[in-house]
Amino acid sequence: MDFAIDVRNISKSYGDVVALGNVDLQVRSGSVMGLLGPNGAGKTTLVRILTTLLRPSSGSATVLGYDVVRHARHLRSVIGLAGQSAAVDDLLTGRENIQMAGRLYHMPRKQVQKRAQELLEQFDLVDAADRSVKGYSGGMRRRLDLAASLVANPPMIFLDEPTTGLDPRSRLDLWEVIRNLVSEGTTVLLTTQYLEEADQLADEITVIDIGKVIAQGTAADLKHQAGSEFIVITVREAEEAKRAAAVLEKFADNDECEINEEDRTASIMVQDGASIMVQVVRSLDAEGIVVANMAVRQPTLDDVFLALTGRTAEEAATESEPTEN
Ligand SMILES: Nc1ncnc2c1ncn2[C@@H]1O[C@H](COP(=O)(O)OP(=O)(O)OP(=O)(O)O)[C@@H](O)[C@H]1O
Ligand SMILES: [Mg+2]
Repeated sequence: MDFAIDVRNISKSYGDVVALGNVDLQVRSGSVMGLLGPNGAGKTTLVRILTTLLRPSSGSATVLGYDVVRHARHLRSVIGLAGQSAAVDDLLTGRENIQMAGRLYHMPRKQVQKRAQELLEQFDLVDAADRSVKGYSGGMRRRLDLAASLVANPPMIFLDEPTTGLDPRSRLDLWEVIRNLVSEGTTVLLTTQYLEEADQLADEITVIDIGKVIAQGTAADLKHQAGSEFIVITVREAEEAKRAAAVLEKFADNDECEINEEDRTASIMVQDGASIMVQVVRSLDAEGIVVANMAVRQPTLDDVFLALTGRTAEEAATESEPTEN
């Protein structure tokens, strides 16, 4: 089978630090792969290897059929990369940034000008096009960086944490842009720390942790591994959380209810929260427990992580440097 990305047993070490250990990854042409993992998991390292900016210590990988080491020069000319920190030049205008990217791809001047205008329109940057990037917001910088990486119409694009640090509105805007790309047939590999983002955009998700692939599948597969959904009940008085928990436990898949007294919440893991919500509320009511708020929460990366590794993504990110194993 023909894969847009085919990674075979790639490892990368920085001195004693194993950033990637024996990673395998296949991405179908025209699909979106979400590479999901906490800080330090090795996401950027893999993106840098696949975009020829870094050589693997061992193993091999092809992108669009080109070997990332042997065909590096050619490969660079057919892919786009929007790196983790937007690589835009503050001294230039938005338009000039895109045009500069076009020249790096050796595109003819006329064609670059036309393409820049097209991208500025597509990314809603027309009004700011001829202003210096210095005054751009974070969301505008991300959009510009993405626009510049698309100047040569690459069939394959790498997005390293495209929405980290953006406000919710800008994040939604960028998701829309990425969806449009995909609908035009572009293959996308994007990294993210948010299950929700992978959920929204990716056809398939690869979860990595300390340089290792720990799970692979659709968003639904991963959520299933994390134990589906959560019902979260907020009570009026902190003292009532324990009493609520006694009621809620009976509905939980694992007969357990987690209490957070500070937030006045009690939460349980269930298969289908919406279907039993009414019963849950009735039971609480029958015990005279006043409910201030209730919600069905989808599993987060943390839940998936916890289920797969026994620790939270935050704990994983603050762990000491990874060591060889
Ligand atoms: N140039 C380097 N020298 C030494 N160690 C490095 C270097 N670059 C990355 N590392 C280490 O390799 C591991 C993987 O880093 P990487 O940047 O690939 O993670 P990441 O998943 O992109 O994290 P983040 O979400 O924070 O961007 C980390 O332990 C990191 O400290
Ligand atoms: Mg990174």
